[in-house]
Amino acid sequence: MKVTVFGIGYVGLVQAAVLAEVGHEVVCVDVDQAKVDNLKNGIIPIYEPGLTPLVTSNYEGGRVDFTTDAKAGVEHGELIFIAVGTPPDEDGSADLKYVLAVAETIATHMQSHKIIINKSTVPVGTADRVNAKVAETLEGLNKTLTFDVVSNPEFLKEGAAVNDCMRPDRIIIGTESDSAEKKLRELYSPFNRNHDKVIVMDIRSAELTKYAANCMLATKISFMNEMANLAECFGADIENVRRGIGSDPRIGYQFIYPGCGYGGSCFPKDVQALIRSANQVGYKAKVLESVESVNYAQKEKLFEYINRHFDGDIAGKTVALWGLSFKPNTDDMREASSRVLMELLWGQGVTVQAYDPEAMEETQRIYGSRPDLKLVGTKEAALENADFLVVCTEWQSFRAPDFELIKEKLSIPLIFDGRNLYDPKIISEYGLHYYAIGRGLSI
Ligand code: UGA
Repeated sequence: MKVTVFGIGYVGLVQAAVLAEVGHEVVCVDVDQAKVDNLKNGIIPIYEPGLTPLVTSNYEGGRVDFTTDAKAGVEHGELIFIAVGTPPDEDGSADLKYVLAVAETIATHMQSHKIIINKSTVPVGTADRVNAKVAETLEGLNKTLTFDVVSNPEFLKEGAAVNDCMRPDRIIIGTESDSAEKKLRELYSPFNRNHDKVIVMDIRSAELTKYAANCMLATKISFMNEMANLAECFGADIENVRRGIGSDPRIGYQFIYPGCGYGGSCFPKDVQALIRSANQVGYKAKVLESVESVNYAQKEKLFEYINRHFDGDIAGKTVALWGLSFKPNTDDMREASSRVLMELLWGQGVTVQAYDPEAMEETQRIYGSRPDLKLVGTKEAALENADFLVVCTEWQSFRAPDFELIKEKLSIPLIFDGRNLYDPKIISEYGLHYYAIGRGLSI
């Protein structure tokens, strides 16, 4: 099938590459000429396992192309995805200007029936606004053409995006049009082979499903972080509690890992956006407001432990920091807990000596050169002349470190672990002091 994707961001690029891989003919349109040129030369703008070979092989095979030519893009696709960004406004609600601009562009150039598919995470009611924008633009141009607007939210995770897209848990299709449903079922049939993963519903429910999914996951995390804080107050160990409750299949083991807060481009933005949307319809989303405020506080947790341990006397110290990205297998620093920690430490005159397997360039780009940030090439180099160690991201390569070396290099034998990676018994055998989240291990 002929498919066009507007917006070569995370969602758009992965979706385009995966659709091309199964044989669809895909054209990606973006306003950023440099991004388009880079993609044609095999330079992928994001770090995502498996994406580079997928994009380059499909580009070389002629199944996916990249362009800034919106007119050509609209002419190409009978199905047109809108996958542009919806950045938060000053008040936290999703800004739809890019989505609506694409809707207008599609209407301006279309000469035949089009199925317009919202892939971006957009507030409930956006499909209606896209519908109105297309209709109004067509009318202004005296064109009498038919079109469908479908909501088809994406559920991929950074770091596992290609796999999530290739093997989706579910394919949500929000439409009341039988013909649009039929086309989308055909589009996704290669991903829907063993059992039917397609769930068809009305458009507004599809739009809300996306927010409800992310908000539920964020709620699980904030709930566990609250339990971790309580475990500390009560002298319990949250890791035992986690195993204890996860064994109940109604609760499950996934997304109940306590830590130094959730980050990324989705959870913080989507929780905030749903709170704002709720306000706009006169509803106070109390659970979500708590989810958000617990997360803010959780991101300051490591700093609190450090400050408490040293009675506030931390100026002039050097911290070895392992992990900068908001989670492993990505270079994404958006809303990363490491940023909150570093900024609080810098405010107290502490130097950060950091290592991350992928996010060093991004950190450099965000913070530039500053005397209190040293980015080093290995996790061992981060320990050189450092006073103590902090772990912020659970990269695999941090899971079984050389504790002997850590003890030898640090001036104070002390680890603050924001992801509960280590066994406290093993650590204490090495003579290291250890703080983890909700484990009551403060010394
Ligand atoms: C999230 C959702 O998991 C995807 O299903 C969704 O499609 C995506 O948002 C989106 O809306 O585009 P992502 O932001 O890539 O995906 O990252 P997650 O793996 O969900 O992790 C989010 C944050 O939660 C990370 O900071 C992670 O460290 C934290 N987390 C996760 C915890 O603190 N505890 C857990 O148990 C799980």
